[in-house]
Amino acid sequence: MQKRISFPGDAGAPPFYPGSIVMISAVDGRGRADICTVGAWSLVNGAPRLFGIAMCARSSGTSYWKRYTTTCIEETGEFVINIPDVTLQRAWELCGSVSLAQQPDVDKFELAGLTAVRAARVGAPLIDECPVNIECRVHSRLTLPTHDWIVGEPVAFHTAAALANEEKTFDWERAPRWRD
Ligand SMILES: Cc1cc2nc3c(=O)[nH]c(=O)nc-3n(C[C@H](O)[C@H](O)[C@H](O)COP(=O)(O)O)c2cc1C
Repeated sequence: MQKRISFPGDAGAPPFYPGSIVMISAVDGRGRADICTVGAWSLVNGAPRLFGIAMCARSSGTSYWKRYTTTCIEETGEFVINIPDVTLQRAWELCGSVSLAQQPDVDKFELAGLTAVRAARVGAPLIDECPVNIECRVHSRLTLPTHDWIVGEPVAFHTAAALANEEKTFDWERAPRWRD
């Protein structure tokens, strides 16, 4: 495989995300919903299961400013990890390029043609079109130079019925060592 080498700071150095893209939904203290596309996220602990998301939390240069979704998570202590499928590329591009921090009057759900559905245990809405939704409460937070690594403890999982019927689907609810 032919590869191109680049170093941090090189013009055109490609962004790298350690996993697939997720869409984080959250509400602010007044109940206003936001969606932020996040490429830097991961399952980070086994028991209890914990998920980390890297949320930009302060300004640096032109690319980094505090995401309004970060403010929402701070104000409520809750968020939802929505895992999209490939049909939602346009939606995650929109939610990843329009910021309520700069355009406070935008309704991201309407903009991206997405449907907000009431969650089971958190105030943030689920994105109905995403086949997997993980409702989380904030467990802990690590402050880094531009982003904060926000760790969430899941309180409810939603999996599309079509996925749940797949042979290889991981059954989160019956996962071994759950809450050991
Ligand atoms: C593919 C992709 C991945 C992104 N990953 C992250 C990320 O990991 N963390 C982050 O803070 N912003 C990330 N962003 C940028 C935010 O999604 C973007 O700034 C968004 O407009 C913030 O919206 P908000 O301010 O309304 O929350 C990503 C954008 C795209 C398109």
